[in-house]
Order: sequence, then structure tokens, then C-alpha cells
Amino acid sequence: MSIPTLRIGDLTATIPLVQGGMGVRVSLASLAAAVAEEGGIGTISSVGLGDLERGGRDYERVSQAALREEIRKARKMTDGILAVNFMGALSNVEDLVRATVEEGIRLVVFGAGLPMRLPSMVPDPGVHLVPIVSSARAAELILRAWAKRYQRTADAFILEGPLAGGHLGFSPTELQQPEDYTLDKLLPPLLDTVKPYEEKFEKRIPVIAAGGIYDGRDIARMLKLGAAGVQMATRFVCTWECDAAREFKEAYLNATEEDIVIIKSPVGLPGRALQNRFLQNLEAAGKQTVHCPYRCLTACKASEARFCIAKALLNAYRGDVEHGLIFCGQNAHRIHTIVSVKELIAELMDELRTALEENP
Ligand SMILES: Cc1cc2nc3c(=O)[nH]c(=O)nc-3n(C[C@H](O)[C@H](O)[C@H](O)COP(=O)(O)O)c2cc1C
Repeated sequence: MSIPTLRIGDLTATIPLVQGGMGVRVSLASLAAAVAEEGGIGTISSVGLGDLERGGRDYERVSQAALREEIRKARKMTDGILAVNFMGALSNVEDLVRATVEEGIRLVVFGAGLPMRLPSMVPDPGVHLVPIVSSARAAELILRAWAKRYQRTADAFILEGPLAGGHLGFSPTELQQPEDYTLDKLLPPLLDTVKPYEEKFEKRIPVIAAGGIYDGRDIARMLKLGAAGVQMATRFVCTWECDAAREFKEAYLNATEEDIVIIKSPVGLPGRALQNRFLQNLEAAGKQTVHCPYRCLTACKASEARFCIAKALLNAYRGDVEHGLIFCGQNAHRIHTIVSVKELIAELMDELRTALEENP
């Protein structure tokens, strides 16, 4: 049985797999290009780029220039499909989106907040807009607002469930009952929500499922439920091409299930991360002193923030895992080896093919 392609507008990925954007440099050109080269969609994260320490007040210009550089680097490595991921909470998100479109990227993925005004940032209909949502209700709000204000609709949705890594679109109470919010439960109402907009705009609005998808069987299950593809991130951390330091990847390999915890982030959302000395010290101290020469997050007040998330994620990315925040998905503890992107994708697609044959 053949593996379905993933179509978003006029872009066709030869496999139904998106590598999720991972902020503060975990997914840059190296990882994204490797995934795109294997036929998937590779995502560069726009979050926390540039020489933040030295950038200071010049942060906005510096981070935008660094993003342009990553896009150009990735383009030199592949002709495959590249996306850029944005966080609504970023203070300079509009500048970053504009720079991305100027660099020729045609897939804009937007999470951590509802992108109500995204079409006004990207008027070109040739650039595909892909919001990340955690419920059908959030998708409905976006679809209704975009249809009314911009006569435009989403080109795809990423549906992120509660087992994902990084920031999560669920309340701490909801996260205590992940069984109530499984992708199997969240997906059907989202598919129903997009249907009238598919008819109105006469186009497909594919839904891509994310969060806790670990192997080819999981991918097959999502496709059977009606997803057009899946987005995976945690498994891509333990690849040679992942842009984070070796120590970051080894922290995953050494993790047990009990090490995976939910934290409260200065972004204003819960996040999933690995328990470590950084989190223990923070717990004991209650709060770190935060000096902020720039303001990368709109909602973050340096005087009130418990810690600087940009600095903590940057430490982890660089390999200082005892002083860094290591974001991860709920399945990080299941990974035991570092492999190449090629090997990982070949394994996933073999498993997917088998699962589709067993249960067509
Ligand atoms: C280390 C890490 C960093 C992440 N950073 C971001 C981010 O900056 N923006 C975003 O939209 N999603 C982020 N995510 C979420 C992923 O893109 C993805 O949707 C999710 O983790 C999928 O679940 P999985 O990790 O179980 O495969 C991050 C995930 C991880 C593991």
C-alpha cells in the first residue's frame, strides 16, 4: 500500500510528515533541510535567534537578520519544502513574518496564540497560512474572523494535543486529564469545523495531527482518523542533524518517564520539559533575578518573570543542560539512540507502510 502525500495548497510533500518547529534554535537550517530533503516538511523556528546577549536593544534587527540567514542556509541545502514557525507571543513577530516571506518561504506556521491578524501580515495568497490549534473552537474563531475580515481561509491546521513538547494550548487542569483530550477525540470535531469553510472557499483545508506521535503505527492511526499528515518534533531532537548540542540530545536519552514535568512559562502558558537542576533550583528559589535588555515576549515583565525563558532555552540548546530549560514531548523517555534524519524517516515510513497494509 502506498504512503499518501501531504498537500497544502499547491505544495506537495511526498510523505505525510512535518517536522515541528522547535524554538530557541533546536530546529534551524540543518534539521529542517534534512527533513525536507527526505520528502517531509522541514520547519525552522523563528524564536530566539541572533546573538541575544550582545544584541541588547538591537534584538529585533539582530533576530530578523539571523532568521534570514537560517532560511538562506537551508535553501542551499535542499529544494524540498521548508516552513517557518512563529510564536504569537513574540514582540517582533510581524517583522519576522515579513522577513520570512521576503526570503521566499511559502509556509507560515503560527502557534502560541490565535493568529487573528495573520492574513494582514501576509497578503500574498501564494503564501500558505497554517495556524496551530488545540481545539475545534480555536479553529472556528480563526476561520470565522479570517472569512469576515479578509475573505480568506486557512491553508491547513496543525492540531496539537496535550502530549506535545514545549508550550501547550491546554490549562494545567486539562493537562492532568490528557485522556479527555486525546488526538482521537480532538480530531473529528476539528474536521467537522473546517468542512463548511472548505466548501465556501472551494479548497481542501488539511488537518495535521501533532503531540505524542511516536511511530509509524501512530501515524497510520491519525491518517485513518482523517488527518492529512502528522507533525512530530521530539523524535527529531535525537537526530544527528538536530541543531541542539549533543548534551541536549543525551538528556532525552537519559530521561525516565518520571523526569517529564509540566512547568509554568513566562510566555503565560504551561510547557512540558525535563526535570533537572535548573528547575529544582528555580523551585527552591521561587524566582530568579531577570535582567532584560530586550523584550522578546509581549506578555513577559522582567521584574515579575520567574526566570528568563530565552536565556534558559539558549543554555539548554548550547549544552549547559544543568542551567537550561529542556523542552520535550511526553514520549522523550522512549528514545534510546541518536540516528540520522534519513534513518528515522525510513523507519517511520516502513512502520507506516506495514500498519497501512495490516489495517487498510
Ligand atoms: C524542544 C521543543 C521545542 C518546541 N518549540 C516550539 C516552538 O517554538 N513553537 C511551536 O509552535 N512549537 C514548539 N514545539 C512543539 C512542536 O513543534 C510539536 O508540535 C510537538 O512537540 C509535537 O509533539 P511531539 O514532540 O510529541 O512529536 C516544541 C517542541 C519541542 C520538543
